[in-house]
Amino acid sequence: MQNQTILVLDFGGQYKELIASAVRELGVFSMIKPGSMPIEDIKALKPIGIILTGGPNSVYLNSSPKCDKALFELNIPVLGICYGMQLMCHILGGEVGSSIKGEYGKVLIKNESARNSKIMPSRDFIALMSHRDSVKKVPSGFDITAVTDDCIAAIENTDINLFGVQFHPETKDTSFGKEIFKNFVFDICKATGDYKLGDYLSEEIKNIREKVGNKKVLLALSGGVDSSVCAAILDKAIGKQLTCVFVDHGFMRKNEGDWIESIFKNYNFKFIRINAEDRFLKKLKDITCSEQKRKIVGQEFIKVFDEESKKVNAEFLGQGTIYPDVVESGGEDGKSAVIKAHHNVGGLPDDFDLNRLVEPLRGLFKNEVRALGKKLKLPKNLVHRQPFPGPGLSIRIMGEVTKEKLDVLRDVDAIFRQEVDKLTPGKKPSQYFAVLTNTKSVGVKGDARTYDFVVALRAVTTSDFMTCDYTRLDHKLLSAASKRITNEIASVSRVVFDITDKPPSTVEWE
Ligand code: XMP
Repeated sequence: MQNQTILVLDFGGQYKELIASAVRELGVFSMIKPGSMPIEDIKALKPIGIILTGGPNSVYLNSSPKCDKALFELNIPVLGICYGMQLMCHILGGEVGSSIKGEYGKVLIKNESARNSKIMPSRDFIALMSHRDSVKKVPSGFDITAVTDDCIAAIENTDINLFGVQFHPETKDTSFGKEIFKNFVFDICKATGDYKLGDYLSEEIKNIREKVGNKKVLLALSGGVDSSVCAAILDKAIGKQLTCVFVDHGFMRKNEGDWIESIFKNYNFKFIRINAEDRFLKKLKDITCSEQKRKIVGQEFIKVFDEESKKVNAEFLGQGTIYPDVVESGGEDGKSAVIKAHHNVGGLPDDFDLNRLVEPLRGLFKNEVRALGKKLKLPKNLVHRQPFPGPGLSIRIMGEVTKEKLDVLRDVDAIFRQEVDKLTPGKKPSQYFAVLTNTKSVGVKGDARTYDFVVALRAVTTSDFMTCDYTRLDHKLLSAASKRITNEIASVSRVVFDITDKPPSTVEWE
């Protein structure tokens, strides 16, 4: 089944996945390939349109990544974004240079075209810029369709269907970004919108059945979105041939292990839960460094999972690898699988035959995985679950992890989440949780002086977790959470709210 394809050629742009994802949201298939992809390979893919991403380099340096000039002669529409637009200009005889000052952040884009542009909105708008180099002279045949106070913001040559924008239409900070992609994909590339998740699902189910035959598959199920959707697809495809192992390391949130079990124990597959809190706590005794905690939890996870694998004797290993994992590890050559394994399952033996991996999500972005989860009737609160780190609460307890601290943090975290969950869905932060600091502080409860834990509340709003704003939660909500925490949990004397963005902070405290 060959969908119409928009090819995203990557020149090191940090937003390449947002670009590909924006195209797919329009019902048009997209894939990301390196900017250096040979022209013959590009032709073989038969893309209906090509998008060149941004990147951190200067096009006029010899060492910078380039594409073949022939790319612009294929009779396929091209949209260059940021570095991609500069590259187009540089190769086609325009001029690109460094500016005295850069443009970083939201900038007013002024509509410049006397006639109607085929791609740009016919009005001024705000867009995200992130560049110092800019186009100084456009190649012959190109029109300037938008400018800012400091640079040429958009160009086009409609005779040969080449377009460029200096700003980033793929980010939420650009208004009308979606309209620009729509114009490019539908009006210029003539897409029909033939990419549908339902087709992906039936195709994958067919592929899994062909690959697995009547053999057994083992899957490490964490209860996260990816492994859960992976389990639900495998269940539909091969049902009873699947065994899912849920290693409960004891660092889950309040009642979370039981919740995950209650969702999955009614499926056709065999569900094994290993309660290993004591074992993990012993391993973390006296450990205070967060990186060491991560390493130890990961290693112990492999051990537990390996022990269970041996009992199951499965020929195939399922994995919730998703498309960004594939892209970030350099492509479709199988290395991605190993990297995901290192992150989530903990690692595959060096001689593991990658043909024995079943990865039904490897073509999907996270939002598509969630949509598929809904299609497969997984509970809404699972499909829209906020991210939760693999090592769990062990890295939200500063200093040594003990059973007592875990129980306190679980209770604090549950109260905070209950209060935030009263917000309407669109108003909720992207991630919100509590941290048990390594500090105690003086308090007064009743007439007695106390000396107890200081807990911190953290809530962030973001689209990609690479940068985040702290969420400006209402003071009434914060006050209600603080009152409940100090009233209901005896060993907490003080509650603080984290008001730092990322950067300079990270989301997690450790
Ligand atoms: P940071 O703290 O790096 O977090 O700003 C960004 C996102 O990554 C999650 N995170 C982790 N996820 N294992 C994981 O599976 C980890 O060790 C880990 N550390 C951070 C974090 O929750 C946030 O969503």
